[in-house]
Amino acid sequence: MKAPPARVVELFDRDAINFEQYLQSPLGRLRTELIWSGIAPLLERNRQTHRVLDVGGGTGAFAIRLAADGHRVVLLDPSQAMLELARSKAKRHVPAKQRGNLRVKKGTINELTGGARIGQFSTVLCHNILEYAVGPQQVLDRIRQFIQDDGCLSLAVANRDAEPMRTLVNRQDPHAARQLLAKSLQPSSLFGGYRRVFALQEIVEMLDKAGFYCFEVRGVRVACDFLSQELLEQHDGWRAAYALEQDLIDRPPHKYLARYLHLLARPRA
Ligand SMILES: C[S@@+](CC[C@H](N)C(=O)[O-])C[C@H]1O[C@@H](n2cnc3c(N)ncnc32)[C@H](O)[C@@H]1O
Repeated sequence: MKAPPARVVELFDRDAINFEQYLQSPLGRLRTELIWSGIAPLLERNRQTHRVLDVGGGTGAFAIRLAADGHRVVLLDPSQAMLELARSKAKRHVPAKQRGNLRVKKGTINELTGGARIGQFSTVLCHNILEYAVGPQQVLDRIRQFIQDDGCLSLAVANRDAEPMRTLVNRQDPHAARQLLAKSLQPSSLFGGYRRVFALQEIVEMLDKAGFYCFEVRGVRVACDFLSQELLEQHDGWRAAYALEQDLIDRPPHKYLARYLHLLARPRA
């Protein structure tokens, strides 16, 4: 598997602060909280300490929280600027006695060797990185090598079927919406350039090819991208949007049109 081109890492370095600001925004918080609501019950179920690998963990939205909860976490990311933000956030948000739970490493999963033994992680997170990876299938193949046979993979990807409707409503542009129906590369609003978007069937097949079966498909942000910023910035407006999203997150057909597909998968026996 190739490392991400230097140009791609440069974009993440350049936009790390923008990404962190997005995470603090109402839509960013909805994304984090909705994904979190899918993984927290899995981690809490047997009350064990999990060994977690967060591939492309960015500024630590998930890794920091997991380390503070007592899990042992490796946050892996090729962008130095993302990692620096993650380190400074960890100092603020992880109590001193839990800080040793978080290891922040520069690189991609291809470069993860040395201390990391094959099959050593009980949980792997891969949230919104396949959109930018040079070989998304190889990333999943490699994750399979590092995850225990009874482990769990949490995978979030941009949903190809969400973009035409978002473009239609937000830009009032039916022509552009039609064009997006057939496009698997779409402009990235956060990082510039293009990012890959995935159809559900495609990502399920990729998981299958890597040796995983998907046991849950969740739709993250079905409706709230169509709400006004003003409403989402009010505490009650945000809470109401979150409650609606929780009702839609596993409800077909709505979930299939969400901004992000959140898939939970396990290695096949
Ligand atoms: C959209 S951010 C997501 C960050 C984090 N997973 C989250 O959900 O908050 C994408 C991250 O993927 C990282 N990335 C890009 N290409 C990668 C690759 N090939 N392998 C691992 N990480 C990569 C970037 O540096 C960036 O931090």
